[in-house]
Amino acid sequence: MKCISPVTVGRAFLLLLFTVAAPIGMAQDATYVGSNSCKICHNKAADGAQFDQWKETGHSRALETLKSAASIEIGKKLGLSKAPSESAACLVCHVTAYDVKALAPPAKIKVTNGVSCEACHGPSSVHVSAAKRFRIKKDPSIDLTSMRERPTKENCLRCHNEKSATWDPKRYTLEDGSTAGFSFELAYPKVEHLKPAKPEE
Ligand code: HEC
Ligand code: HEC
Ligand code: HEC
Ligand code: HEC
Repeated sequence: MKCISPVTVGRAFLLLLFTVAAPIGMAQDATYVGSNSCKICHNKAADGAQFDQWKETGHSRALETLKSAASIEIGKKLGLSKAPSESAACLVCHVTAYDVKALAPPAKIKVTNGVSCEACHGPSSVHVSAAKRFRIKKDPSIDLTSMRERPTKENCLRCHNEKSATWDPKRYTLEDGSTAGFSFELAYPKVEHLKPAKPEE
């Protein structure tokens, strides 16, 4: 091993100070990174294979749905000037973080991934960079908890509401026999993809 001179240590320390200090004062708001960057860490069977589970849900195919015969029919009835898969009127709920003014989602979001991870878990750049740093440094002081918040009912209701072109007020039958177009309690278990409990626990 090479001997490290005090000068090098001094520089490294300054650099460290700079690296740590820089984000303070700068906006630490997370931005969208896209679901493909989650797969590498969240697709192990033992941990719940969240990526594959999401792939099996309609959310991952939500853009495809807009190309179906049923969607084209709906588009005609509504008199849309473009195909549903190109209309803001449909994309706003069938794609993650679709920006109606820009007529596109944020740059890193692929429309073909439909309603993807960050539609429920929120923009994840801060988490991804922390998790990548943790992978390399194994430093337990790196904060990985930023994603622990459970997806809320309000978040689901942004899309699961009567503005949906296929809204069916009787889609869900509740325990008391009444019906609803959406039920957070009944829909949640269909998307939660939790880590399986260990058998011996
Ligand atoms: C480099 C690896 C890595 C990448 C990439 C990554 N994660 Fe994570 N993620 C982790 C680790 C490790 C944890 C566990 C943190 C903890 O102890 O709670 C975690 C935790 C989570 C949790 C919360 C689980 C909990 O209860 O603590 C969610 C939700 C999550 N990640 C979503 C995502 C999403 C969405 C993406 C992609 C945008 C992503 N992650 C990318 C490593 C990663
Ligand atoms: C960005 C919009 C959006 C958000 C947010 C969203 N969904 Fe969805 N969801 C959709 C779309 C679009 C479909 C239809 C997908 C398809 O089949 O093409 C769908 C379909 C579903 C389905 C299958 C159809 C049904 O209603 O039974 C379930 C279950 C579901 N979502 C649950 C949830 C839950 C629970 C949440 C919140 C944790 C949620 N969704 C958040 C847009 C969204
Ligand atoms: C307000 C959000 C929203 C908008 C806007 C929206 N959708 Fe959807 N779409 C959903 C949700 C949520 C579902 C899941 C079923 C449900 O609850 O309606 C869905 C499901 C569908 C389905 C699958 C049918 C089914 O019953 O599972 C089709 C087809 C569809 N949408 C077409 C369209 C078309 C075409 C447009 C544009 C004219 C559109 N949607 C606009 C939220 C929306
Ligand atoms: C429709 C909403 C929705 C989408 C889309 C979605 N998730 Fe989740 N996810 C949930 C819910 C709900 C939970 C359960 C949270 C809880 O109850 O603690 C969850 C839990 C998780 C957990 C924690 C599992 C555990 O037991 O610790 C991880 C990690 C995760 N999701 C990653 C992802 C990744 C990666 C994607 C995209 C490939 C994704 N999610 C897409 C709703 C969603």
